[in-house]
Amino acid sequence: MSDTAVPLRDKVVVITGASSGIGAAAARVFARQGARLVLSARREERLRELAGRLREQGATVSHVVADVSRSDDALALVEHTMDRYGRLDAAFNNAGTAIEKTPLHLTDDDAYEQVMATNARGVWNCLRHEIAAMLTCGGGAIVNTSSVGGLVASSVAAPYIASKHAVIGLTKAAAVEYAAHDIRVNAIAPGLARSEMVDEWFARHPEARETALRSAPQRRAADPEEVAEAAAWLCSDRASFVTGATLAVDGGRTAW
Ligand SMILES: NC(=O)c1ccc[n+]([C@@H]2O[C@H](COP(=O)([O-])OP(=O)(O)OC[C@H]3O[C@@H](n4cnc5c(N)ncnc54)[C@H](OP(=O)(O)O)[C@@H]3O)[C@@H](O)[C@H]2O)c1
Repeated sequence: MSDTAVPLRDKVVVITGASSGIGAAAARVFARQGARLVLSARREERLRELAGRLREQGATVSHVVADVSRSDDALALVEHTMDRYGRLDAAFNNAGTAIEKTPLHLTDDDAYEQVMATNARGVWNCLRHEIAAMLTCGGGAIVNTSSVGGLVASSVAAPYIASKHAVIGLTKAAAVEYAAHDIRVNAIAPGLARSEMVDEWFARHPEARETALRSAPQRRAADPEEVAEAAAWLCSDRASFVTGATLAVDGGRTAW
């Protein structure tokens, strides 16, 4: 296959949050584009099944169980990658969690801590260890998953909104700091994409589906692979002059 068809050929890529939704879609998209993958999340059975399916299709894939809110787990993920492949070319820091819709003044500290620990500290933990590894490899590319909620606010989700704004801040800071080391750091800001997180959300808040679709110019949710394609492009050398950017993958949601 030509390099155009496989823009991630042989690149060693870590994907967090790979057990479902956008992360699992990214595993499929990145594998099709030639990447060698390390898939990570907390649910091992999911990772094992997905890795097995991708291997049957010819991909090189391993998996590591890790909770991104724990720095030691993020370190172990990067160490596994370096031990196994001898390098780390790209990382898609995609693991994230949502929060029950609650007015800010009624949100308790635990809810805040929990969403920040996964969404903001999780990206921080991965970023630190990935950059340390990439500095020994001569460069790399990192994509962090923020959200439309990292660009604009919505009601009754303040900790989530804060955590996704933090992801964009970390992305910009790291991009500026490591640009001279050939490490690019970007974020994607998905709008509504079909996933377990979203399905559970709509199951608890049926009225939210209509509201979400009304605020999306394309009037539909994304297939998770449509979001993963953007992350794959940012991880590839085709995006070689893009760093510190946040790419909205939202069907026009934030253009309104
Ligand atoms: N779908 C959307 O509409 C949408 C919109 C904007 C942003 N996003 C963002 O996109 C990302 C992926 O979400 P999704 O929609 O694909 O939802 P999802 O299907 O629920 O996937 C979330 C993933 O994150 C992993 N995860 C959660 N907490 C973790 C932790 N502490 N450590 C390690 N892994 C953890 C989950 O795996 P385990 O449970 O196995 O650990 C799962 O693989 C998230 O960052 C989310 O905020 C999604």
